[in-house]
Amino acid sequence: MTAAIHGATPDSRPGALITGAGGQLGIELQAAAPAGWRVIACGSAELDVTRTEAVDAALERERPAVVFHTAAYTAVDAAEEDPAAAEAVNAGGAAHVARAARRVAARLIHVSTDFVFDGAQGRPYTTGDRPNPLGAYGRSKLGGEREVLRITEGRALVVRTAWVYSCRGRNFVLTMLRLMQERDELGVVSDQIGTPTWARPLAGALWAAAGRAELRGIHHWTDAGVASWYDFAMAIQDEALRLGLLSRAIPIRPLRSEEYPARARRPSYSVLDTSATRSALGLTAAHWRVNLRTMLRGLANA
Ligand SMILES: NC(=O)c1ccc[n+]([C@@H]2O[C@H](COP(=O)([O-])OP(=O)(O)OC[C@H]3O[C@@H](n4cnc5c(N)ncnc54)[C@H](OP(=O)(O)O)[C@@H]3O)[C@@H](O)[C@H]2O)c1
Repeated sequence: MTAAIHGATPDSRPGALITGAGGQLGIELQAAAPAGWRVIACGSAELDVTRTEAVDAALERERPAVVFHTAAYTAVDAAEEDPAAAEAVNAGGAAHVARAARRVAARLIHVSTDFVFDGAQGRPYTTGDRPNPLGAYGRSKLGGEREVLRITEGRALVVRTAWVYSCRGRNFVLTMLRLMQERDELGVVSDQIGTPTWARPLAGALWAAAGRAELRGIHHWTDAGVASWYDFAMAIQDEALRLGLLSRAIPIRPLRSEEYPARARRPSYSVLDTSATRSALGLTAAHWRVNLRTMLRGLANA
């Protein structure tokens, strides 16, 4: 944890405490911090959000103006085997963070997921559409949203996002790049549609939201556009070949979800309508393919 230095010169900058600081979004939030903020980055080893006393102590000590709550149990399939573990982090942990944030009057920005929806609607989900999660992960995240909004009496900002990737951590882009090197062909699901979202601009949008105290309740933010996992994989291969991250193309077959057994059921169409949030923040989102190219270019140059 980057603790405030209690010395002769008190740090008068507003504090932003990040939970799950070692995760994809947590890392990008630290990198994107605007000047003038004191960032208190709390990885899971420093702050376990399932421990209510630890959460209380961290917020009491740091007195942040803003809390970015990104810590989450994100293993969607494993959550089916151990739903209690997902609940403990995603609903229980969120409640602890919300209570502590309320106690110290910190603005809470809580991150949630497109997996709160069942995907049956067939058009982009607005924030007013009814959630109906298909699996344990989505249920636990929906529980977290509800706890956060109940405890803060609607003052917290809940930002749902989707299909997040970055140049570090566990994500679809890095998994595909590895499999495309190891295998001679791949099958990728083509009947689940969503929006790939680079963690970096998502972090930028969350920082923009941090400065907008009037924004509260549920919001949606992803990159622009839509894709299936198959489209996403094809784009990853195309861009990676162009950038020299891959040396050969392999055949990629579209699969139906039934052909790719996974423990958790996933929504078939979980595109989020982000228009209200974009206009509230005065931001435009780049198309997912543009962001994918930029991220892979960074990876190639690293
Ligand atoms: N990844 C996606 O595709 C996606 C899509 C939609 C929404 N989201 C949401 O976006 C947010 C950020 O996701 P991400 O992609 O950055 O996930 P991530 O890379 O898996 O990071 C999550 C972080 O939470 C930490 N964590 C887990 N249990 C914890 C606990 N009990 N206390 C404190 N920290 C804990 C993890 O630490 P360890 O690794 O040490 O366990 C990890 O660093 C999450 O709320 C997630 O639900 C993600």
